[in-house]
Amino acid sequence: MSKKIALVTGGLGGLGSAITAQLGRAGHTVIATYTSDNGRVEKWQGHLREQGVESSYAVHCDVSDWASCQAMAEEVRSEVGEVDIVVNNAGITKDSSFKKMPKESWDAVLRTNLDSVFNVTKQFADGMAERGWGRIVNIASVNGRKGQFGQTNYASSKAGMHGFTMSLAQELARKGVTVNTVSPGYLATSMVMGMKEEVRQQIIEQIPVKRLGEPEEIGSLVAYLASEDAGFITGANIDINGGLHME
Ligand code: CAA
Repeated sequence: MSKKIALVTGGLGGLGSAITAQLGRAGHTVIATYTSDNGRVEKWQGHLREQGVESSYAVHCDVSDWASCQAMAEEVRSEVGEVDIVVNNAGITKDSSFKKMPKESWDAVLRTNLDSVFNVTKQFADGMAERGWGRIVNIASVNGRKGQFGQTNYASSKAGMHGFTMSLAQELARKGVTVNTVSPGYLATSMVMGMKEEVRQQIIEQIPVKRLGEPEEIGSLVAYLASEDAGFITGANIDINGGLHME
């Protein structure tokens, strides 16, 4: 497999670091965007080195902010090179019933989870098309597929990502660039561990495989979608949720 440059937004987080590790192990140079460092970059690079991944770079970026994404792309181009693989992974939750949801929670989640997909992809998609090769993977959620009590904001943002995927996939198909969505279920990450214990247990009960997913399981799928072998998969949504939602 030829060596590519892969950028993962929110690449230092629980899921993001598993994705960067798998892409790095597949031979790519990995770039992670982050909003706060506090020693996390060093820890991330150490974790990658332990797995034999030497080529990595971390860049500050607020994915919800267009100007920040432009600055991030300039830095990446001058410090690392042209990006071939983009994984839109950064995301937040601000759960509450619709009745209790303030406008700020709606805006924050839509900006971070969905506007970000435009802000980041826009920086790199033209270059991929011009070079005739690229991979864009959008990390959505089982809850964008089935809805979830307390997540009108999050589920809307995640469902919106797949509309973006299907549309851009059609625009870039002839240019050697694939665009796909991965919809993970509940994973053992801080996002899910931050839920109330009793709510989490109720959800695990509903998952046919009776466990949370491992971030590495998502990382492997993303690495496959980013590979040469996956060139015939585009505009797809791939569910990886332990059977919680089947279609
Ligand atoms: N279905 C139906 N009714 C429900 C319900 C559900 N799933 N959950 C709560 N209710 C009911 C309660 O029984 C209660 O009813 P009564 O008023 O009749 O007693 C009422 O709704 C409570 O409503 P509130 O607005 O007061 O809700 P709350 O403040 O107690 O809790 C919540 C709301 C925090 C959103 C809580 O329901 C919750 O945590 N839900 C889970 C959200 C979730 O799954 N988040 C996923 C985070 S991880 C992630 O998003 C990653 C990924 O991609 C999978």
